[in-house]
Amino acid sequence: MTADLFGAQDDQPWAEHLSAGTVWHHGLAVKHEVQLMTAIADIERQAGFRHMVTPGGFRMSAAMTNCGQFGWVTDQGGYRYAESDPQTGKVWPDIPECFLTLASAAAAQSGYPGFQPDACLINRYEVGSRMSLHQDKNEQDFSAPIVSVSLGLPVQFQFGGLTRKERPARLTLEHGDVIVWGGPDRLRYHGVGALKSGEHRLLGACRINLTFRKAG
Ligand code: SIN
Ligand code: FE2
Repeated sequence: MTADLFGAQDDQPWAEHLSAGTVWHHGLAVKHEVQLMTAIADIERQAGFRHMVTPGGFRMSAAMTNCGQFGWVTDQGGYRYAESDPQTGKVWPDIPECFLTLASAAAAQSGYPGFQPDACLINRYEVGSRMSLHQDKNEQDFSAPIVSVSLGLPVQFQFGGLTRKERPARLTLEHGDVIVWGGPDRLRYHGVGALKSGEHRLLGACRINLTFRKAG
């Protein structure tokens, strides 16, 4: 792992290349935190967070909602993208401009110019919530990267290989960190460990993750 910005300061964003297709942008979203949180509150008013159920019948511990043309959903019928919110029957809220600006800038700075996400999954973790190791593979097009933004309490991110067997690297994602993975890394397994208790100055005892994808 090498730092792009030699002598980077703690409160300045800096980027770390984790592998050929993956860049960890430390703190990149911090300067947009108020705009992002305002936009999330606005989305939540239109499409509330809910605990979805896996095809196997398990309640997911992270609460989820979506914005964009396609929203990722799961129920007993399977994992898929839906153009409307099953809870309201309405289309998902649009992806806010400040989300798009951040996601496309992060992608471009990671070697993926022209990224135009049509799906943004919003995961909200309370203390103890986690997400087990999985691949993002419900999308039509694997040529676009995944852009993942972390807000609130820190969490242990598990970044594995292309097979479930490979032992994942463990990275502590902090408020404002953005990870971009694509190209040869697009189908890497990943997950997050249980959220530890704490109090974030902006989000309280919670973590929010935005995952941008090109789904359609
Ligand atoms: C996900 O893979 O959907 C979420 C990962 C995260 O919360 O960082
Ligand atoms: Fe994922």
